[in-house]
Amino acid sequence: MEFGRIVVGSDGTPDASALAIAGALAAIGDTRIEIVHAGTEDAVHDSAMADIAATVMMSGIPGWRVGTTSHTGNLADLVAAAAERLDAGLIVVDRGGRRPAHAVHRLSHEAPCDLLVVTPRPHDGSVPYRKIAIATDGSATADRAARRGFDLARSLDATVDLIFVGRRATGELTTTDTVAVYGDDVASSIHLLEGDPAGKIIEAAAGAGSDLIVIGNKGMTGMRGVLLGSVPKAVLDHAAVDVFVSRTIRQLESQLSPGEGGVVDRHGEQLAAFVDDDGATHLLSARCTHLGCIVAWNPAERTFDCPCHGSRFGPDGAVVQGPASRPLPPA
Ligand code: FES
Repeated sequence: MEFGRIVVGSDGTPDASALAIAGALAAIGDTRIEIVHAGTEDAVHDSAMADIAATVMMSGIPGWRVGTTSHTGNLADLVAAAAERLDAGLIVVDRGGRRPAHAVHRLSHEAPCDLLVVTPRPHDGSVPYRKIAIATDGSATADRAARRGFDLARSLDATVDLIFVGRRATGELTTTDTVAVYGDDVASSIHLLEGDPAGKIIEAAAGAGSDLIVIGNKGMTGMRGVLLGSVPKAVLDHAAVDVFVSRTIRQLESQLSPGEGGVVDRHGEQLAAFVDDDGATHLLSARCTHLGCIVAWNPAERTFDCPCHGSRFGPDGAVVQGPASRPLPPA
């Protein structure tokens, strides 16, 4: 599993845990790390940058693989902008006290890529995660989080606990499917639960001894199919372990594999992207031709589905199912 570039956010205190975990993950894919420091004054910048340089040296990560930039401004904005500019695949930040800081909450909504929120602790630079809990509600967006979680588990030789919260019958079908499609070579257990999604996910992950929870940044659905946008935030707030928030709505083109589609951002415009078997990317408007809602990739059916009235389009934009009658136009 490769992240392209990893951006580590720092608010002035060099965070040894976030950097050590970023370093361990970077080693998997020989990835470069960019540390973004948000400060307010030049003198503070200088001393913070010196501290960061010392932390890099102590972490054992080769200095040539680490770049540092320092800016004045809000940490979430600066980190998100750097990730966008560098086409980064992952942002790593410290949890910031017992509860995630405002910057972490903002990044969980606004990061242009996956986000890893690290709980400060001593770290020896070894494989950071052995037991990974993946939260799912069987939706197409949770599917992408599951795929990222299984990819990470495969890279780290970790086991997976797939936690489904919702109707049991749906869970039996979707979790079996998810494991078959994304993780048939990964040792995994399935947990089918009902109740408050965030509470059940945290409880099941703790019971399984997981050291990481993977969840999509899009809200999960409750028992009545109601979208619960606060589930990722509640998990971030209350989990005692690290949380990997997978970007499930917008994706980076560089994260799409052959045969996969997704909705990507190009200069502020949302586009439906599909990578064919030869690795060529095809870009279409992501706006449904019925009434203009933004479509989402459905990996099970390999279609772009509209959440508003159920229109579905093939990877080439052709209408598979109405009410839309016109294809998605090329971008
Ligand atoms: S807007 Fe897409 S189906 Fe109506």
